[in-house]
Amino acid sequence: MSARQILVTSALPYANGAIHLGHLVEYIQTDIWVRFQKMRGHACWYVCADDTHGTPIMLRAEKEGITPEQLIARVHGEHSRDFAGFHIAFDNYYSTHSDETRFYSEDIYQKLKAAGLIEVRAIEQYYDPVKQMFLPDRFIKGECPKCGAKDQYGDSCESCGAAYAPTELKNPYSAVSGAKPELKSSDHYFFKLSDPRCQAFLRQWTRKGSLQHEAANKLHEWLGAEGENKLSDWDISRDAPYFGFEIPGAPGKYFYVWLDAPIGYMGSFKNLCTQRGLNFDDWWKPDSKAELYHFIGKDILYFHALFWPAELQHAGYRTPTNVFAHGFLTVDGAKMSKSRGTFITAESYLQQGLNPEWLRYYFAAKLNGTMEDIDLNLDDFVSRVNSDLVGKFINIASRAAGFIAKQFDGKLVEEAFHDRFMGSLPELLLSSEEIAGYYEQRDFGRAIRRIMALADQVNQYVDQHQPWKLAKQGGQERELHVVCTMLINAFRLLALYLKPVLPKLVQRAEEFLNVAPLHWRDAAFVLPPAHAINPYEHLMTRIEGKQVEALLAANRQSLAPTPAQQSPQRHAQHQTGETVEATEHISIDDFSKIDLRIARIANAEHVEGADKLLKLSLDLGQLGTRQVFAGIKAAYDPATLVGRLTVMVANLAPRKMKFGMSEGMVLAASDPEGKTTGLYLLSPDSGATPGMKVK
Ligand code: MSP
Ligand code: ZN
Repeated sequence: MSARQILVTSALPYANGAIHLGHLVEYIQTDIWVRFQKMRGHACWYVCADDTHGTPIMLRAEKEGITPEQLIARVHGEHSRDFAGFHIAFDNYYSTHSDETRFYSEDIYQKLKAAGLIEVRAIEQYYDPVKQMFLPDRFIKGECPKCGAKDQYGDSCESCGAAYAPTELKNPYSAVSGAKPELKSSDHYFFKLSDPRCQAFLRQWTRKGSLQHEAANKLHEWLGAEGENKLSDWDISRDAPYFGFEIPGAPGKYFYVWLDAPIGYMGSFKNLCTQRGLNFDDWWKPDSKAELYHFIGKDILYFHALFWPAELQHAGYRTPTNVFAHGFLTVDGAKMSKSRGTFITAESYLQQGLNPEWLRYYFAAKLNGTMEDIDLNLDDFVSRVNSDLVGKFINIASRAAGFIAKQFDGKLVEEAFHDRFMGSLPELLLSSEEIAGYYEQRDFGRAIRRIMALADQVNQYVDQHQPWKLAKQGGQERELHVVCTMLINAFRLLALYLKPVLPKLVQRAEEFLNVAPLHWRDAAFVLPPAHAINPYEHLMTRIEGKQVEALLAANRQSLAPTPAQQSPQRHAQHQTGETVEATEHISIDDFSKIDLRIARIANAEHVEGADKLLKLSLDLGQLGTRQVFAGIKAAYDPATLVGRLTVMVANLAPRKMKFGMSEGMVLAASDPEGKTTGLYLLSPDSGATPGMKVK
C-alpha cells in the first residue's frame, strides 16, 4: 500500500462565540478520521482556523469596547484551549485574519476577474442612518409580512417559518440602533455563478460518484435539470464599515466573510507549509495527486459544494476530492437549549471535570457518515460509556494485569507456550481491515459496534476460563499465565482499534503495555514471548449521573437575559448560584448579603427588539421604585402582572443593558431538570407589603 497525501479541514468556527458540543461533533469526527489516516501511515495534514471577519464580529468588539483584532485574538486563545481539551490534534489552527488568507483572497479574486467572472452591479439595500452602515439581513427586524409576528429577523420568521427579503418586513427597524432603515443604492461585486462555464463545471463536479447521497440530491436540486439555469450570481462584497479585507482596486468595498472563509483553508495550509517546509503547489495545483477533504455541517453545504469548487476551478486551483457533511446535534431529542441547560459549552464540560474521551466515544458510536442529525441522549451517554468502555474494554486489562504482575513477574508467557493462546485470537487479528474500512467510510458507529462485539467475545473467554479460579487452584499456573497473556494481547488489539477515538487513553494503555505508539500495521502481530508489561494503573473512571446533572446546571440560563445582552459578570453569578446548591454550604452571613424585598409590580411592558424580556417597574414602598428587565416574556402577559406582589433582589449591582438600566432581579421558579419549560414568579402570602425584607 503506497502512502496517500491527504489534506483535511473542518469548518472554521466563527470568532465571536464559544465552542459548544454541537461544534464538537464535527471536530471530533474529523479528528478521528485524521488520526486513523495517520495510523495507516499516510501523509495526512489537518488544518483549521478561526473565521474572523464580518459584521457580527465587528459589532461584538464594539460592544465590548475593544478592537476586532483584540476580540479575535482572545477568542483564538479560547478556541485553541477548548479544542486541545478534547484532543483535537490540528496540525495548524490559524486565523483568516492573516497575510496568507489575504494573499489567496486577492489572488483568487483577480483570477476570477481576469476570467470575466466578476461583475459590478448597483443594488438597493437597507441602510441604518444613525449607525451609518448597511445592515445585514439578521440586523434588520420588523413584523413578518406573512403572519404579522413582531420582532422577526430580516430573512425569515421564527413564528410562521416564512422566508422573505428584508424589504418585505412591515415597520422595519435596525437591530443595531433601533432607527428606521432607509433604502440606499450601492455598487456590489458579484461572482457570476450563473455563467455557463460555472454551470457546466458544477454539473460535472457533482456527478462524480463519491458524493454522499443526500448531498448529491441537494446539489442536483440546486442545479436543476440539464439546460435549466437555477444558480444566481453571488454577492461577494460589503461596504465599509466592515471588518475584513478590502477588495483590491475597490476602495471602501470589502470581501464578504464567506468569500475569504474557505480561502482560510488555503491560508492555514500555506502557513503550515512555511513551518514544515512543504510545497504548497504540490497540494493545490490543478493536477495535484493529493486528496483534499472538507468536513462540514449540512448547513454550509451550498458554500462548500457550489461556490467553493467553482471559485477554485476558475482561478486555476485544484478542486476538493470530496466534501463530507454531517447532521446537527440534538440533546435528548431536542435542539440545544439555554433554558434547559443543554446548550453545553466545551469549556463547561471540561471545567465540570467530565472526561473528553467519554464524549469522543459517544459521538463516534453515533456517527455513520451520513447527513442525519445525531442525538446526545444523556441517559444513554452515561450507560453506554460505563458499559462499553469501562465494563467491556478497560476491564480486560485490569482483570489480567494483577495476575501477571503478582504471579509472573510482570511477564507474558514464554515462547514454548505461545501457540496455546494464539488459537483464541484469530477473529481479533483478522478484523483489522474490516474495521479500517468502516473508519475510512466514516461509519464510526459500525467500527465501534464491531470492536465491542470483539470485546464481548474476549469477555466470554474470561468467563469460560475464569482466571480467578485458576489462581486459587493449585497446579494451574501455566494455564493462568496463558489465559492472562491472551487477555493482554486482546486488550492491545482492541486498544489499537479504538486509538483514533481514544487517543489519550490508548497512550496510557501503550505505557502499561510497554509498547511503542501503535500503528495500524501492528494489528498483524502479537506481543513477543515473555514480553514485560508495566504495573496497571486505572485507565478510566465511570460517569456518574450526577456529573451530567451538574453539567446541565452549569449551562442553564433560565432567568438570564438573552445571550447578546449577557455580561460576563452576570454569567459568573448565575453559575455560582447553581453550583453552590450542588456542592457546598453557605453561611448565614453569605445569605444575609442578599437583600430580598417584597415588590409590587407597578407596571409591566414589552420591550421593542427583545425576544425574552419584559420591562418591569417595581414599587418597593419606602425604598422607591426600580426598573428591572426580566427574562419572563415567554411565561407572562404583561397585563396580568400589573399590581401583583413578588420578591426581588434589591441590592444586585445595576446593569446597563441594551434597552436601559436594570436595577435588580425578580425571583421565579423553574424546573431544574428542564423537563418543563415554565417559569413561576414568587408571590408572598397576603399581608406582605412593598419594601418588606424577606429572610
Ligand atoms: N464560519 C462558518 C464556517 C466557515 S467554513 C469556511 C460557520 N461557523 S460555525 O461556528 O457556525 O460552525 C462551524 C461548524 O460547526 C459548521 O460546520 C457547523 O455546521 C457546525 N455546527 C455548528 N453547530 C452545530 C450543531 N449544533 N451540530 C452539529 N454541527 C454544528 O458555519
Ligand atoms: Zn410569520
